[in-house]
Amino acid sequence: MKHELVLVLDFGGQYNQLIARRVRECGVYCEVKPFNTPLAELKAMDPIGIIFTGGPNSVYLDTAPHVDPEIFTWEVPILGICYGCQLMAHSLGGQVTPAQEDTAREYGKTPTTYNTAIPLFQDLPETGISWMSHGDYMAKVPQGFSLAAHTDMCPTAAIADPTRGFYGVQFHPEVNHTQHGTDMIRNFLYKVCHAKGDWTMGDYCRTAVAAIRKKVGKGRVLLALSGGVDSSVASALLAEAVGRQLTCVFVDHGLMRLNEGDEVEAAFAKWDIRFIRVDAETRFLLKLAGVDEPERKRKIIGEEFIRVFEEESKKIGAVDFLAQGTIYPDVIESGAGEAATIKSHHNVGGLPDFVDFKGIIEPLRMLFKDEVRQLGRELGLPEYLVSRQPFPGPGLAIRIIGDITKEKADTLRQADAIFREELARAGEDQCLSQYFAVLTNTRSVGVMGDGRTYDYTLALRAVTTDDFMTADWARIPYDVLDRISVRIVNEVQGINRIVYDITSKPPATIEWE
Ligand code: XMP
Repeated sequence: MKHELVLVLDFGGQYNQLIARRVRECGVYCEVKPFNTPLAELKAMDPIGIIFTGGPNSVYLDTAPHVDPEIFTWEVPILGICYGCQLMAHSLGGQVTPAQEDTAREYGKTPTTYNTAIPLFQDLPETGISWMSHGDYMAKVPQGFSLAAHTDMCPTAAIADPTRGFYGVQFHPEVNHTQHGTDMIRNFLYKVCHAKGDWTMGDYCRTAVAAIRKKVGKGRVLLALSGGVDSSVASALLAEAVGRQLTCVFVDHGLMRLNEGDEVEAAFAKWDIRFIRVDAETRFLLKLAGVDEPERKRKIIGEEFIRVFEEESKKIGAVDFLAQGTIYPDVIESGAGEAATIKSHHNVGGLPDFVDFKGIIEPLRMLFKDEVRQLGRELGLPEYLVSRQPFPGPGLAIRIIGDITKEKADTLRQADAIFREELARAGEDQCLSQYFAVLTNTRSVGVMGDGRTYDYTLALRAVTTDDFMTADWARIPYDVLDRISVRIVNEVQGINRIVYDITSKPPATIEWE
């Protein structure tokens, strides 16, 4: 069955797949294409609507990415977001200029007023917060367009030409910080593009299974299983697609949380898959000894993972493909397409140049965390595995600031376990997306039992987020924080001070490294 399709044209913004994810969330199939995909190719895909993404460029510069102007005579509705909005204005005869210091340059949560008479904002409140991130400004809107939203600083926060189905928003409706942002995207899909909404996660699952079978054929697949949500869902999907052609290898790098290795093994032991546990703590700690630079830690771990898999695959013999549970935020933050590199996630940017497999299979590469969980449920995975909080591939290595030793890892494991235990006891864990302890490299003076201590500072981090691209720090009650703090300094040797991280993402990231 052919699904309705919306195309997202990628101009290099950080949130491009998030737009696609929002469209899918609204029940419409969506694909992201590079901005310079030939128009004939786009037309052949027969989309019901197009979305231009944001991007880091200024439209008036010669080097800025543009579109074939004929796209505007094709009679397909277009929604331009941020750079995409400016591009549409610029291409259709409007004027975009750098914002002056005191006018129109906006960043962050911005009170905005909408014209709810236009389809994009129909049935939504007239005022709300939108998430802005722009240094350029639409000084003149093109002919045929009217102003559809404004802020204190910017009279052109949104523009609309309902006759042609062209809409532009200066803010980012796809991020959670924009109130009713998803409703705006839904309005674009259903009120402007007249979508019927014919797409579900079940469809994604069937399509992915068919694609994996086609790619793998009779080949054998080795899957890197960490026991986290992503690799568990990837393994279930692979098992569904290729059954016992799949071998799951669980590499215990010695940087897992307390008892985690045994739990993973226990969880997978009862399933009908080939499961191998490799105890590689010594070799990882040896490679990481004395390394304190976060990107180097990630690269070393990424490379060592691959080497262990290669060795295991040689033992198994005739393995053709390596499968990984890479999800979209891993890809984008490792620098994909036009987007800037934030961190090299170990299963993406950390890959060595030479990988001794016929190919890599990453079936979750385009999905966000909550979509992965949904897919896991679709595949019948147990809820305790599906709703588990994420744990990064490099593990505690990126939660120990500075150089890594077994002693530090053990200290952090104990403290982290207390943090998690107390959050669960207080019922707070249900409201959090991710929470963990970080062993900082700072030592400070304390006093304990009349004696002086000079020990490490432990940071506690807890966030709420839907997409892990943006996140808020969690407001854990003081009395719960107090219990955690008292227990950790009393029970864990080597820590004499606890701090709580109250930074959102951006500007911070969720992990410290
Ligand atoms: P940041 O720290 O970039 O994290 O805000 C976003 C989400 O990604 C997880 N994360 C990783 N996951 N390999 C992974 O599989 C990695 O190298 C990695 N680094 C960060 C992080 O825990 C959070 O959920």
